[in-house]
Amino acid sequence: MITVGSVGLDSDIMASLVGTEARSTGGAGLAELARRFDNQEFDLVAIGRAILGDAQWVQKVKEGRYGELKPFTRDDLAFLTSEDLSFLESRRTGE
Ligand SMILES: Cc1cc2nc3c(=O)[nH]c(=O)nc-3n(C[C@H](O)[C@H](O)[C@H](O)COP(=O)(O)O)c2cc1C
Repeated sequence: MITVGSVGLDSDIMASLVGTEARSTGGAGLAELARRFDNQEFDLVAIGRAILGDAQWVQKVKEGRYGELKPFTRDDLAFLTSEDLSFLESRRTGE
């Protein structure tokens, strides 16, 4: 079982696509995720936008260096491939 969506961020991918800037939840927001993982509600956690914001995200979280996390911003989407952009546009328009 895998969980995905808004890990480390306060709003979902659709909000990012229509212009809302997500904010990092920091360590506090990950405590509930850790509780559910420890409760064996899932086996894997997928990270999307947070990794685009900071490629070192996993390492920093593993080491508890929450204050060093570079937040995801919509500007990070500027570095995506055409395949990424096509996928995101299809999600935004529902086509
Ligand atoms: C740049 C980008 C490309 C993505 N490409 C795909 C894709 O090809 N197929 C897919 O099922 N989801 C794709 N997604 C959605 C992610 O798998 C994930 O469901 C979504 O980003 C929510 O996770 P997050 O809140 O951690 O960003 C993409 C997301 C982003 C930001």
